[in-house]
Amino acid sequence: MTVLPTELVLGGARALRGTLRLPGDKSISHRALLFAALADGRSTITNLATGADVRATCAALEQLGIGVKERGGAVVVSGAGIDGWTEPGNVLDCENSGTTMRVLSGVLAGRPFLSVLTGDDSLRQRPMARVVLPLRSMGAVIDGRDNGDRAPLTIRGGALRAMRHELPVASAQVKSALVLAGLQADGTTEIVSPGPSRDHTERMLAALGVAIAVEGLSVRVEPSAPQAFELDVPGDPSSAAFFAVAAAITPGSDLVLEGISTNPSRVGFVAVLERMGADIAMRTTGEACGEPYGELRVRGSELQATTIEGDEVPNVIDEIPALAVAAAFADGVTDIRDAEELVVKESNRIGTLEQELTQFGFAVEARADGLSIRGGRPQGAILRSHGDHRIAMAAAVAANAIDDESTVRGWQAVGSSYPEFHEHLARVTRQ
Ligand code: S3P
Repeated sequence: MTVLPTELVLGGARALRGTLRLPGDKSISHRALLFAALADGRSTITNLATGADVRATCAALEQLGIGVKERGGAVVVSGAGIDGWTEPGNVLDCENSGTTMRVLSGVLAGRPFLSVLTGDDSLRQRPMARVVLPLRSMGAVIDGRDNGDRAPLTIRGGALRAMRHELPVASAQVKSALVLAGLQADGTTEIVSPGPSRDHTERMLAALGVAIAVEGLSVRVEPSAPQAFELDVPGDPSSAAFFAVAAAITPGSDLVLEGISTNPSRVGFVAVLERMGADIAMRTTGEACGEPYGELRVRGSELQATTIEGDEVPNVIDEIPALAVAAAFADGVTDIRDAEELVVKESNRIGTLEQELTQFGFAVEARADGLSIRGGRPQGAILRSHGDHRIAMAAAVAANAIDDESTVRGWQAVGSSYPEFHEHLARVTRQ
């Protein structure tokens, strides 16, 4: 396990050159573990995400009676089907991971035992009613602080009624929780989203033999179970976005990211960077468990401002911290709209991006649904992560592109998703 420093000092406008293979995608990793735990048999997962979020899912599954073992660089999950899940002897700590808490709730809603889920200070502030209310309507008994909107959550699962849900927010975590509840319900469960969101659950479960059908924004699922599988998890495009932006804004860069997920619901940032004039090319080279993967090449170039809004937003929501840095180094004013969900991420990312970009001397205006960022000439600064991995990496990417020295405080936050970030940045900037 990497021991992370609490502060990181960067600077010197260093170009990124060479090739990187990134750790596995966090969203796919959580799902791979959960689906393996629902299968009857042994599944083998390689290139699992290395951060604390995915470790929290592993630990929760072990407490639920599922065998999760590391063997020669692979994680082997021994599932005994959904009936093999047993009542946990203690509280399940989801730490900083919204995906662990929300998606796992969908399985626990149908299990005939009591589970208690908690998390760190940030996760206990994040909204849970979006998943609690529809699971209650299927028959689960769930409570929590603020009438069930905040963790700790208690879930007493049991028989679930199949039903049709119309989601108020386009959330892949909520959609996935309801799909997993639907696997245990008494008929067809339908989930209709108000807009697109990442589709790993649908792709992977279909590839693993589950009766799931997608039609536009509607997903229908029948009671069924995934088969055990082997998966080499594609690299995380959300991590790739930080390297893509770092390369795009630093003259002389020429970086190749190999084996990353090219799932269309995750690579919206590539289209945004292309629109900004970045020299970027992506190609898909294969598919595993329904998930496409491939390669991304980025070279340093001049960038222009753009607008990010509407249906594009959910597909770049985790990449907005990286794209905000691209905007800060572009010519003109970039507008990010319709992104109010940023407020309920690991930090209030509208506020934290405004604060940190302002430290560098950029002109930023925060609104309820997003930000306007005027490209400019930054200076070295002292930045704070606000306990948010993606704010820490955004600060580091901007700091790397500036001649002056900058310091990112609270650097250890990167441990949630990408503990090796600095080691990898150092590898491709060492010339
Ligand atoms: C995720 C879905 C998104 C995303 C999060 C991971 C997932 O959240 O921001 O980092 O793995 O399903 P929402 O479901 O809240 O949109």
